Amino acid sequence: MPKRRSSVQPNLQGAALLRDAAANRGTAFSARMRETLGLQGLLPPAIEMPEQQVARVMDNVRRQATDLDRHVYLGALRERNETLFYRTVLDHLGETLPLVYTPTVGLACQAFGRIFQAPRGLYITAQDRGRIRDLLPHWPQPQVRVIVVTDGSRILGLGDLGANGMGIPIGKLDLYVACGGVAPAACLPVMLDVGTDNAALREDPFYLGLRQPRLRAEAYDAFVAEFVAAVQEAYPGVLLQFEDFSNANAFALLHRYHHQLCCFNDDIQGTGAMGLAGLYSALRLTGGQLTEQQILFAGAGEAALGIATMVTAAMVAQGLSPEQARGRCWLMDSKGLVVAARADLVAHKRPYAHDHAPLQDLQAAVAALRPSVLIGASGTPALFSEPVLRELARGAARPIVFALSNPTSKAECTAQQAYAWTDGQAIFASGSPFPPVTLAGKTRVPGQSNNAYIFPGMGLGILASGATHVSDAMFFAAAQALADQVSHADLQCGRVFPGQERLRDVAAAVATRVAETAFSQGLATHSRPADLGAAIKAMMYVPDYPPLPRA
Ligand code: NAI
Repeated sequence: MPKRRSSVQPNLQGAALLRDAAANRGTAFSARMRETLGLQGLLPPAIEMPEQQVARVMDNVRRQATDLDRHVYLGALRERNETLFYRTVLDHLGETLPLVYTPTVGLACQAFGRIFQAPRGLYITAQDRGRIRDLLPHWPQPQVRVIVVTDGSRILGLGDLGANGMGIPIGKLDLYVACGGVAPAACLPVMLDVGTDNAALREDPFYLGLRQPRLRAEAYDAFVAEFVAAVQEAYPGVLLQFEDFSNANAFALLHRYHHQLCCFNDDIQGTGAMGLAGLYSALRLTGGQLTEQQILFAGAGEAALGIATMVTAAMVAQGLSPEQARGRCWLMDSKGLVVAARADLVAHKRPYAHDHAPLQDLQAAVAALRPSVLIGASGTPALFSEPVLRELARGAARPIVFALSNPTSKAECTAQQAYAWTDGQAIFASGSPFPPVTLAGKTRVPGQSNNAYIFPGMGLGILASGATHVSDAMFFAAAQALADQVSHADLQCGRVFPGQERLRDVAAAVATRVAETAFSQGLATHSRPADLGAAIKAMMYVPDYPPLPRA
């Protein structure tokens, strides 16, 4: 189980104590601590409460010129005073989440080599082949329980960012700590630097990764296999989260490893659970049944297929046959509507290739299929144009529109456009946040379909139960738990996800259902506490200053 507090090395004192991010309290060291720990003279005389420190941090955050500057400032704080960082994030989740994670993390990855100040996590490169197991012990924390790993090949909707993609595992693990209550010492971000095919990046003087083309085919598979084996040996039972791998590798790795170890792919499965939860909530507003929906996905990649798989499973659980359920999900990719006649389809799109005339154009597909739900996961900005959304509204009284592509610059449409072009009828959610929109005197608050509603609770539930594997039923349970967290008040203002300030409560609720499922499926290795929900809340890390051995 993760520990409630961060781990602090014994016998730290003086300047070394101030330089240790896990132990440092800065101006919150008491007079007695300053005396006994050799800190006198090393700090200004004021002794502050953590609340005052948080207020100063937020004052500084707000005075920065740009969101990227805010991201950099908060990252530097984490390297100085970990507890204060997580406390600030948690106390101001609504304000800090978009800075620590999407959408700002997209900018941070693009600028990674320029804003770099200090290393964080493990960089395992193609040059480390044959010696990865020797490298893992260099990580100073022995009790790693969650690893988020990327190869930087598909960072958000921004494509191949090579080693710059390290910003993503770092950001995701920040949310594991702040929202999921997993102890910082239990988290390890990993970058598998297998090169980059982004030529501009390889030319960038500040680029920090390997300047070589990506490993491919057998060489790539062998490298990842060596990494997975080394991880299992170093941290038995660890949860491995695959993150922002390019399409083909993401599906292949999930297929290869999900029966072998405790792992999941957040872009596919986490997004799937999040999307299904959003639909459950949206249907509370429209009054329709899931099994009656006609769903058109603009995009046929990891996100779209993840949601389609979950939705299909949910429809089957509600009485449809698998064929009927898949028949209600239609996909469009960059080459047009996914139809049976196409010869260019990879295996995972085939189940959704229905008999229909080929169509290249989204508006034409909307007119032909009359979807009640339009989900964008294409990484293509402005794809939901005015003609597309007006066509959608012609066929559905209350169309459900999810523009999931991240970051904001890639969103298929804005909240303002979604509401305006459906005459206020759309139920809208987006991957990146948009401000509330007032139309004809009525204010609507768009929901943010952020995977942060799923994966921190997923991880916490897995750790709480000691699950050996991650099952589809666990994601199903997570989706239901998230949907249950959407209140009547959320729905009244049009929001199909809970407010972000509730992320920690949501994680606890998701974790409880996930762990319950692990216990009932026989996947758990821990014994089940009498009150699972209370036990999970009690094990969550709280960003209070850790006890100091000598104080
Ligand atoms: P992917 O690369 O696996 O798939 C992208 C898909 O979009 C491909 O099927 C491609 O053919 C298709 N596409 C490209 N241009 C298109 C066009 N003009 N019309 C229709 N389809 C088009 O990428 P993935 O992982 O599915 O992610 C897609 C987007 O969704 C990204 O921007 C990502 O950040 C976002 N996303 C958002 C999440 C959220 O809201 N929580 C979660 C996961 C992904």
